[in-house]
Amino acid sequence: MMQAIRYHKHGGPEVLQLEQAPKPVPQDGEVLVRIAAAGVLPVDWKIRKGLFPMPVKFPVIPGTAFAGVIEGVGPGVNGLQIGQEVFGRSTNGTYAEYTTAPADSVAVKPFSISFAEAATISGGATTAWCAIKNAAVKAGDRVFIHGAGGGVGLFAVQFAKWKGANVIGTAGPSNIDFIRSIGVDTAIDYTAGPFEVGLEGQVDFMLDTIGGSTLERSWPLVKQGGAFLTIAGQPPIERGQKEGIRVLRSAIAAKQDLIDIAELMEKGIVQTSVQAVFPLSDASQAHIRSEEGHGRGRIVLRSGN
Ligand SMILES: NC(=O)c1ccc[n+]([C@@H]2O[C@H](COP(=O)([O-])OP(=O)(O)OC[C@H]3O[C@@H](n4cnc5c(N)ncnc54)[C@H](OP(=O)(O)O)[C@@H]3O)[C@@H](O)[C@H]2O)c1
Repeated sequence: MMQAIRYHKHGGPEVLQLEQAPKPVPQDGEVLVRIAAAGVLPVDWKIRKGLFPMPVKFPVIPGTAFAGVIEGVGPGVNGLQIGQEVFGRSTNGTYAEYTTAPADSVAVKPFSISFAEAATISGGATTAWCAIKNAAVKAGDRVFIHGAGGGVGLFAVQFAKWKGANVIGTAGPSNIDFIRSIGVDTAIDYTAGPFEVGLEGQVDFMLDTIGGSTLERSWPLVKQGGAFLTIAGQPPIERGQKEGIRVLRSAIAAKQDLIDIAELMEKGIVQTSVQAVFPLSDASQAHIRSEEGHGRGRIVLRSGN
């Protein structure tokens, strides 16, 4: 058995309970990981509340992002070994002492970063990486990133800069200096006035991480033939067709993407930010904080000692 956060019905943060749960067993192609840190993604509390269009089987162990140490290897796994420090994505729940994950969703942790930092990669760096890659961002492009200080945004800024783009980013007042420090060329405080002034038709790629009216107001900024991705809702395909703008879909990173991201982090080209670390038993506090929707980087749960 192991300790895990579980919930038996949808609801508020109080449904998250620390319980004994069966320790998972790695199946074909999977590894067993002793979790050191789990990333708290906004989707975790959306699923908990029943807001996400996805069937769940109770009890649910929340979480997909993790970093830890391989403790077991299932049949058919090549290139990963017991004792390796890794990070990745699991669909078996990560707010726990252990998880299992397909070897294809796991990569070796950069030596130079902590487990907490590595737990920010899946669902943050991976989402940003696929966005910048699928938009085919190139040197000289103007890339606009909403929520540039958030768990996805901070990576998107750095990947776009690494590609040689000119980056415009939005954040609240407490994150403006931070987004400049990670490379945003034009930092816009979205609380100080309309973000769109003077930028109509100027943007090659728009990454919206906010949705709602922010998404609506962003369309006129994108050039004809430019690209648009929102990760805060369904892809607005029809609107894109009408506007002559290429609408992208959010993608799940492949193993090579994890390896490429790890290399950039190992070299210090790309950095992360951990907003707060909570013990596993305080998962409900971590969800309350995440639901506020204002912060810098990723909230992380610490598992084990
Ligand atoms: N489809 C996917 O693959 C995928 C993957 C990851 C995330 N998502 C979704 O994408 C969204 C963002 O995720 P995240 O992990 O980056 O969230 P996050 O870590 O909570 O970051 C959101 C950021 O946006 C800023 N912000 C809040 N309101 C804003 C506004 N009106 N304009 C500009 N910035 C604003 C926040 O702080 P300040 O206001 O203090 O600056 C914060 O830094 C969530 O809805 C999440 O579920 C989707």
